[in-house]
Parts: sequence; structure tokens; C-alpha cells
Amino acid sequence: MAAVVDGFDLLFRQVSNGFHIYSEVLSLIGAYYVTKKVIVTCYRVQYVIRMHLYPKLRPKRDLVKEFGEWAVVTGSTDGIGKAYAMELAHHGVNIILISRSNEKLRKVASEIESFYGVKTHVIKADFSLGSEIYEDISTKLQGMQIGILVNNVGAMDYPQLFLEMDADRIRQLININIGAATMMTKLVLPQMVERKCGVVVNVSSGTSIHPSPQLALYSACKTYVDVFSQALEYEYKDYGIIVQTLLPSYVATKMADFGETMPRSRFLIPSAAVYAKHAVASIGIANRTAGYWPHAVQSWIARQIPRNTWMWGANILNSALRRQAEVRRKLKIVKSSSKGKLASKSPTAESASKSV
Ligand SMILES: NC(=O)c1ccc[n+]([C@@H]2O[C@H](COP(=O)([O-])OP(=O)(O)OC[C@H]3O[C@@H](n4cnc5c(N)ncnc54)[C@H](OP(=O)(O)O)[C@@H]3O)[C@@H](O)[C@H]2O)c1
Repeated sequence: MAAVVDGFDLLFRQVSNGFHIYSEVLSLIGAYYVTKKVIVTCYRVQYVIRMHLYPKLRPKRDLVKEFGEWAVVTGSTDGIGKAYAMELAHHGVNIILISRSNEKLRKVASEIESFYGVKTHVIKADFSLGSEIYEDISTKLQGMQIGILVNNVGAMDYPQLFLEMDADRIRQLININIGAATMMTKLVLPQMVERKCGVVVNVSSGTSIHPSPQLALYSACKTYVDVFSQALEYEYKDYGIIVQTLLPSYVATKMADFGETMPRSRFLIPSAAVYAKHAVASIGIANRTAGYWPHAVQSWIARQIPRNTWMWGANILNSALRRQAEVRRKLKIVKSSSKGKLASKSPTAESASKSV
């Protein structure tokens, strides 16, 4: 009997010793977890202060002195590009505008000159055409001290399945969304490296956080911009160059205006001017940012959602947006054809058709 008790006592002591080791290991894991959480939280708090509070408190920056006299903004006659150009001009930077329409370019250029008293220069170019346009752009940029390049131009068609897209349109979208940022950087970066000073801002998108069904090409192109931009930042940080990736969520521009399902909140979907003000303030502070703090919160939430769940939700939203866009398109066709009929009934059209 005594041997059994001794055996049990021994076994109990050995088991509790074993647990003692486990409890030490567990307390070490707990301490590691808590320390990591504290460090991450401190880092996030200082990031939020540096990113969103500090720019509001510090005096206005002299971007010309920091980076150079001129900024190039692609896709600058509308939306984020136009607002970004205006915000840079507000800081005294001369602006080179690049878009497709001479008329719109001249209008925006004269608005910028009269509001902010800076110089402007316009270049008409259609990025959808691909490599053929860059020689002309390069010639027109010769001899200009470009301190800031904003690779903003982008295009997105309404949501649709990949095979529904026309092959030519696919090529155009790749030229605009990938080719433009890549080739413009190739043209402008050398003189920044020579001066050891400059900023390249690449406008990606929050849609690059997870793949987006029915916007497969667009979200993939924006992921390219994000990855390209981050690698470039690493390559050129020792040359005095800042490369920033912007990942905005929805901003109230023509591009985002394709359905009634979109929330109307101005806080979540800011105007291009509000977005640009926040984004310009983040230059040199964050190299990869949503650019506007409510968008940073949206991105954080998006990152917490499992990829498949996200894609399931995005597919439902994009199906709704696609239906609305198709209704709008049909309405447009009906309107334009009824306009055409009215015009053909008017005396001028009648006489014109008679004279033919
Ligand atoms: N709006 C959003 O919610 C949102 C969200 C995330 C990311 N983004 C990104 O932000 C950037 C700007 O978007 P946005 O909403 O401001 O667009 P937007 O309002 O549609 O403006 C696009 C600008 O690009 C020009 N452009 C379009 N196609 C062009 C081409 N083939 N060649 C030269 N210029 C061209 C347009 O001018 P012309 O028509 O006169 O040429 C216009 O100035 C894009 O890269 C977009 O992907 C936007």
C-alpha cells in the first residue's frame, strides 16, 4: 500500500513539475504577446499623430524649396489630379498639366494661374495610346526642374466580367493604369536623382488591398502601381528621392460616379479638393498611405476581413453597380437617339438632308 502511495506522490510531483514548466512557457508567450501589442499600439498612435495631426499644426511648407520649381501632374483636368495640381499651386509650385483635351487643359491652367499666381505649362497626351507619346512628352519636359511627379492618371470602366471587355479597351486600360506611371517615372526620375531631390507620388487605390471581382483588370493594375511604387521607394531612398504610394478609397469624382448604391457620405467619400489637401500634407511623412484618415480606417477594416469574404461582398456590390451602370447607359442611348430624331425633324436638319 505504501509503495502505491509513494508511486502516486512521485507521479503527482512529476506532473506538477511538468505543468510548472508549461506555465513558465505560457507566461513567456503572454509577455511576448503583450509587449508586441504595446509596441504596435504605440507605433500606430505616433503614426496617426505624425500623419494626421502634425501636418495641421506645423507652418505651411515651402515645397519649391524642398523639392523644386515644377510639378508634373498626369490626368490633371478633372477629379483628384486637378485638385492635387491646385493644392500644389497653393503651395507656390508651378504646374505642368497632362491630359487629353487642349480645351480642358487651357481652362484648368488659366484657373490655376489666376487663383495662385504660379506658372503653368500644358501637354496634350493620350496615355491610352501607349509608348508612342513619350518622346514628345520628354521633349516638352526638357530643361525643366521637376521636383514633384504625380502619377495620377487612371481609368476604370464600370464593373463587368473580364471576357466582356473588348481587347482594345484592355490594352488601353493597361497603357493608362500601368504604362503611364511606369514611363513617366522613367522620364522624370533621372533629373531628380541628379539633383538628389524630388518626390514621385503614385496614385494606386484601396481596391488593390483585395482582388475585386468584376473589376479584375483595374484592381490588378492598381496592385502593380502599389508594388512598383514600394520597390522604387526602396531603390531610391538613398538618392534623396521620396516615392509615395497613395491608396485612396472612394473620392467623389467622375470616375466613382457610376451608381446609386454608393454611399453619399461626404466624410467617407470626400471631394477631390478635401482628399488632395490631406494627401499633399502627407508628402514626406508617410510613404504608403490612404492619404485621408477616414480612408485609412476603411483600409484597416478591409485588411481585417478574410480575402474570400471580401471578394464575395465586392462581387455583390459590383453586380449592383454594373446593373445601375447598364441602365444609365441604355438611358443615354435612348436620350441621344431621341435627340437625333428631334434634330432630324428640325428645319436645318431637313434642309441639310435635302441638299445632300
Ligand atoms: N475617384 C476615386 O474614387 C478613386 C479611388 C481610388 C483611386 N483613384 C485613382 O485616382 C486617380 C484619379 O482618379 P479620378 O477619380 O480623379 O479620375 P477622373 O475624375 O476620371 O479624372 C481622370 C483625369 O485623367 C484624365 N485622363 C483620362 N484618361 C486619360 C488618357 N487616356 N490620357 C490622358 N489623360 C487622361 C482626364 O482628363 P481628360 O478626360 O481631359 O483627358 C481627367 O483629368 C486614378 O488613378 C484612379 O485610379 C480614384
